[in-house]
Amino acid sequence: MRHLLSTKDLSHEEAVLLLDTTAAMAATQGREIKKLPTLRGRTVVNLFFEDSTRTRISFETAAKRLSADVINFSAKGSSVSKGESLKDTALTLKAMGADAVVVRHHASGAPHFLAQPGLLDVPVINAGDGTHQHPTQALLDAFTLRRHLANTSANPGQVPGVDAGVGHDLAGRKIAIVGDVLHSRVARANVALLATLGAHVTLVAPPTLVPVGVHTWPCSVSYDFTSTLTQWQPDAVMMLRVQRERMSAAGGGFFPSPAEYSRQYGLDAARLQMLADHAIVLHPGPMNRGLEISAQAADSPRSVIVEQVANGVAARMAVLYLLLASEQTPATV
Ligand code: CP
Repeated sequence: MRHLLSTKDLSHEEAVLLLDTTAAMAATQGREIKKLPTLRGRTVVNLFFEDSTRTRISFETAAKRLSADVINFSAKGSSVSKGESLKDTALTLKAMGADAVVVRHHASGAPHFLAQPGLLDVPVINAGDGTHQHPTQALLDAFTLRRHLANTSANPGQVPGVDAGVGHDLAGRKIAIVGDVLHSRVARANVALLATLGAHVTLVAPPTLVPVGVHTWPCSVSYDFTSTLTQWQPDAVMMLRVQRERMSAAGGGFFPSPAEYSRQYGLDAARLQMLADHAIVLHPGPMNRGLEISAQAADSPRSVIVEQVANGVAARMAVLYLLLASEQTPATV
């Protein structure tokens, strides 16, 4: 693994290695001395052309916990406003000593562009590109799912504990991914990774928010959220943000209307009651409370949304470690 551009590129072995390394990194977070010397003297550049709270801050935190130096670049207030290209911006940062580049960009494929041989020649990590992919989000989601679902009665034989699931995948788990699939790089990244890990995924969305070509994805599609909950009985429900900004940029409106969307596809108190006892609720954030998820659902004991954020730091430490410091073996930290 030279770069992390898409979850589609990960083999089963690589995916499990990334999750096991995330578990090792998560175990360091409870220690008194959280900082590891692993990346001392290395520089990680965070190149963000789109807004972010969780991904940007957690990459910065992850790099610092591994003792790397961090350069944070945000397109706002930079020479991008004077017309500087992605390539020239990236080459400028490389000239300042970048050993790895983390990039978020509104254009699908921007990280692949930077990863071309002969351009930067350092590891490139996709932190979200357009509607295409968000691999580290999918890794932290899979790690969170594995931690919780490894302990359910659906998975006898697992030893409960903080390292539950180590060495395992999500074989046979049922995950519903619900909402604005059309604009969601999180959905695309998760469908690919969860399929590699052996989980069954059902996408639930109004027909207007299902991408053309979804029949080629390794998942099922439903237009009926309630029956998916009551009849399919998922182990986890991952709610997606309704991306109104991408709908307006495409010249479209929000269809169905927000009220209708919420009624048919929102996770509210009534639908929360339909979940199996062990089932958990995820959301990548930021949430539109009251639209795709009610406050009751977001704050319920089933919700692992805050835990997802914490796991994001460990997942990004694992990615930086495996790309920059290791010979692709699990960390012993
Ligand atoms: N989940 C996620 O990518 O959040 P941010 O946009 O805040 O980084």
